[in-house]
Amino acid sequence: MTDDDRRDAVTPQQRQEPDSGNAPAVPAAGPAPAGEPEPPEGQPVPDRFEDPGLPEHRPRSTDRDPRAARRAEFQVAALFSLSVTGTLLALAAYYTVQVEDDLGVAELLGRLRLSTLLLGIGLFLALFCVGAGVVHWARRLMPGEEWTEHRHVLRGSDTDRAEARRILADGAAESGLGRRPLIRNTLVGALALAPLPAIALLRDTGPLPEDSLSRTFWRAGLHLVRDPEGGRIRPDDLVVGSVVHVMPEGVDEAEHPLEERAKAAVLVIRLDPEDLDQESLGGAHEGIVAYSKICTHMGCPVGLYEQQTRHLLCPCHQSTFDVSRHCQVIFGPAKRPLPQLPLTVDPEGYLVAADGFREAVGPSFWERG
Ligand code: FES
Repeated sequence: MTDDDRRDAVTPQQRQEPDSGNAPAVPAAGPAPAGEPEPPEGQPVPDRFEDPGLPEHRPRSTDRDPRAARRAEFQVAALFSLSVTGTLLALAAYYTVQVEDDLGVAELLGRLRLSTLLLGIGLFLALFCVGAGVVHWARRLMPGEEWTEHRHVLRGSDTDRAEARRILADGAAESGLGRRPLIRNTLVGALALAPLPAIALLRDTGPLPEDSLSRTFWRAGLHLVRDPEGGRIRPDDLVVGSVVHVMPEGVDEAEHPLEERAKAAVLVIRLDPEDLDQESLGGAHEGIVAYSKICTHMGCPVGLYEQQTRHLLCPCHQSTFDVSRHCQVIFGPAKRPLPQLPLTVDPEGYLVAADGFREAVGPSFWERG
């Protein structure tokens, strides 16, 4: 069937000018919608369908029963009141639960948990209840009839468009920009440089991170201690397949212990040295390897070790790292291997770092090479 044949098959009532502005939506030609019978075989599929319109309006209980409407009104008011309570709770938690660096680690963690919990509950109540209240109000009490608003033509009239063109042309002529290139060029320069102070003022939003994202607390000679129980580790403490979460000794005495702990978390794993590739063996001690626990995708702790396959799995987005091949990414969104911490032992036989990390740990950032 040609395009002309198809046009002829449409009745005059069905044919609409596409830009009439009031035309009802007409589905395009194609397979019959679900639930409608397919046309008999050999028959052409019609190009146009009847507009089914809106379903019949059915009054709600709140339309018929004033007591139901009153109940719904109370429910909406209760949700809004709960939202107010949540806001006050969040404000109270913010100002009363103080989280300061000079607290001990245990108390600091406790305060952080309490503050986060109360802020979370408060903000959840504040936002969820106000949203739920508005939805409930709209569904139960606002006029419930559906109606269609036709889209109007947005184009201005030809007269308005001609007038706008004339005003612009007059303005350009009066400003003399075309005739005075000196003014035009200095204006362009002034406008181009005007945003620079705003960019420079961004420096006041906080101290620059400098190299703090690239270095960790680890350095040569620091002992590996179990996290959180503490205690140095000898190679003999680990059997093949065992995994230990470790921190550098003394990290809790750092100026910002929480920040340092967040970057320095390491997983120590013992493998059969024959299972390790050459690159991994470079930083290993008797088959014991140490890798940053911070996922190189978005920084979650990579804590799931599969002993049989020697794979480390990040629970957040399932990035998987092969420990026997220098923690290369074998699955998931992470783009870089987990950085390795080179190991050795001190004269007493305890595991120590042979050096710091040789690359930044954690997710990529703008200054990472
Ligand atoms: S944070 Fe680990 S996979 Fe996304």
